[in-house]
Amino acid sequence: MKNDDIDKPQGMKIRQSIQDAMTTTLPDKEFSEKNIDLVEVDIELDNLGWNFHNFRILNLTDIHLGQWINPEYLDDLVDYVNTLNIDMITLTGDYFSYVIEGYEESLKESFKKLSAEYGKFGVLGNHDHWMGADKIRKIFNDADIIDLSNDVCTLEKEGDFLNICGVDSCTVCADDLDKVLAKMPENIPSILLAHEPDFAQESSQTNRFDLQISGHSHGGQFIIPKFESTPFRGPNSRKYPVGLYKVRDMIQYTSKGLGTNSFRLRINCKPEITIITLKSKNKQKIPIE
Ligand SMILES: [Fe+2]
Repeated sequence: MKNDDIDKPQGMKIRQSIQDAMTTTLPDKEFSEKNIDLVEVDIELDNLGWNFHNFRILNLTDIHLGQWINPEYLDDLVDYVNTLNIDMITLTGDYFSYVIEGYEESLKESFKKLSAEYGKFGVLGNHDHWMGADKIRKIFNDADIIDLSNDVCTLEKEGDFLNICGVDSCTVCADDLDKVLAKMPENIPSILLAHEPDFAQESSQTNRFDLQISGHSHGGQFIIPKFESTPFRGPNSRKYPVGLYKVRDMIQYTSKGLGTNSFRLRINCKPEITIITLKSKNKQKIPIE
């Protein structure tokens, strides 16, 4: 699919103007770990080999660089992420909003610095397609991020295996789940990166994925206290807008993300870095001498 074929939303220039006005009139945000919600979730997966027990996956999503999150903020955030003792990094899309010029180099340099022993894996969001998928894929390539758009990578850890899969953005009809399924080695625990959380309705039907990780919703940028849910739900994040869900036999996790794409406002909905710690149901086998 060519970028020209992607339907761009109405009124992009108006949205961009609102963004620019908010970006230039509001004071710059500086990164502080106190203002971040570091969400740690333990997720038990069927058939996960013991060697992946306590495997730590850190997810970043919806950076929307240039609005709210500026290049310095992102760079400091990456330095912080690199202190968190993680095994793998996943990125679930929307790295830009409506402006990309002037920010490509910053994103590339920050992503280059991200470090994890088992690698960095990413998919694209709807905004990335609107800004030019080829540009984002080049940044991924230059920053050693494996592009999992409708693709699969199987990790091996001391004889145990884990599928890390990705599907491209369904908002712009770039998703191709059949292609992913055809590439997936069978009978291996599998994680799917999908920008839009409501894609879980489709992915869960396959019974091939144990966990889907998503962003897109920004947690609605407003979370009702005590209910831990949001009244503001956009397309493809109406069913699973924030946090943990069980969708058929699959677990869905939706992050509140880091940035904002229209109103630079978050109420009871801090920017989020997620760490998912995988847990095995299997018992460790200790050889007896
Ligand atoms: Fe999105």
